[in-house]
Amino acid sequence: MKTVITYGTFDILHRGHINLLKRARALGDRLVVGLSSDEFNAGKHKSSLLNYENRKIVLESIRYVDFVFPEDNWEQKVSDISKYNAQIFVMGNDWEGKFDMLKEYCEVVYLDRTPAISTTEIKTSLSHV
Ligand code: CTP
Repeated sequence: MKTVITYGTFDILHRGHINLLKRARALGDRLVVGLSSDEFNAGKHKSSLLNYENRKIVLESIRYVDFVFPEDNWEQKVSDISKYNAQIFVMGNDWEGKFDMLKEYCEVVYLDRTPAISTTEIKTSLSHV
């Protein structure tokens, strides 16, 4: 059983998210997702439109996602990798190189982002409606 782990806010789910989750899941047998908590986002001065509970329910219903747990801080990744026995850590390539220190614990893969879509863009276009 090969477990893949990834993290994100996944606010206003879009095809870029789905593409990422689908390709991450295809790298193994199980995909576990650390979903940024509202408090963690606030600490990054990033607010999501949908709160944690909403984002969690949506994410859990995606066929590529096996388990969702809260991401509360930057430091928890090493213990999560061990707790969930993850062999592969995946992020989109907007994070290229940022998590290379985790290579000590598992394989680290940066997947190409889907071009021309992001939650920020959706929020911006909504503000013009
Ligand atoms: N992602 C992707 N392609 C996109 C948008 C996101 O592959 N077009 C990936 C990110 O690289 C990350 C995961 O999806 O690994 C979750 O990203 P998140 O930051 O929640 O989504 P964004 O749409 O990038 O949101 P924001 O604009 O707020 O940064």
